[in-house]
Amino acid sequence: MRIIVISYSFTGNNEALANSIAAEFAAEHIKITAIGPRTTGAIILDMILNRTPQINPITAQVEDKDLVLFVGPVWLGQVASPLRTCFKELKARLGQYAFISISGGALGPNSKLAGDLKKRVGKEPIALLDLHIADLLPPDPKPTLKDTGSYRLTDKDVIKSLTDTVVKTVRKIIS
Ligand SMILES: Cc1cc2nc3c(=O)[nH]c(=O)nc-3n(C[C@H](O)[C@H](O)[C@H](O)COP(=O)(O)O)c2cc1C
Repeated sequence: MRIIVISYSFTGNNEALANSIAAEFAAEHIKITAIGPRTTGAIILDMILNRTPQINPITAQVEDKDLVLFVGPVWLGQVASPLRTCFKELKARLGQYAFISISGGALGPNSKLAGDLKKRVGKEPIALLDLHIADLLPPDPKPTLKDTGSYRLTDKDVIKSLTDTVVKTVRKIIS
C-alpha cells in the first residue's frame, strides 16, 4: 500500500511532525499552502463562518488504494480550514485515510474532531491521533492556552517520540 502524507501547518509544529512521519515511511509528502496572507483573525473567521480558503493546487495523484495521512492543526475544535478545502478536492478519490495532529490540548481533548472529519471527508479515518502540546509541558502549573500557543515543536527527541507513536499506530493497523 502506498502511503502519502498531506500536511498543513500555520506555525510549523505540524510541518515538523509531518516531515518526520513522511521520512519514516519514505512517503511522498505534499504540503498544503493557503493562497494569500493568513492571520489569526482570518483563521478564526474561517472556522466560525465555515469557510474553505483557497489553497495551491495539490500535486499528488491520490488513488483509492493509497493510504493518505493528513497532518495538520486543530482550530476551535475542528480540522484546520485549509485541510477542509483539500478534503473537498480529494474525497471522491480518497481511499483509507488517517488524521494526525499536534494540537494545543490546553482545554482538554478535542471531542468534536472525529465528527468533523466524518462530516467533511464522508467517512471515518482508520486512525485519529490528536497529540497534545499540553502533554509535552510540565503538568504543574497546568499549561495555559498561552503556554501551548507559544510552543514550537523543534526538539528532535520530542519529534522522534511523537513520530514513533504515530508510526507504531499506523503500522499496527495496516499490517
Ligand atoms: C486560532 C487557533 C485556534 C486553536 N484552537 C485549538 C483547539 O480548539 N484545540 C487545540 O487543541 N488546539 C488549538 N489551537 C492550537 C494549535 O492546534 C496548536 O498550536 C498547533 O500545534 C499549531 O499547529 P501548526 O504549528 O502546525 O500551525 C488553536 C490555535 C489557533 C491559532
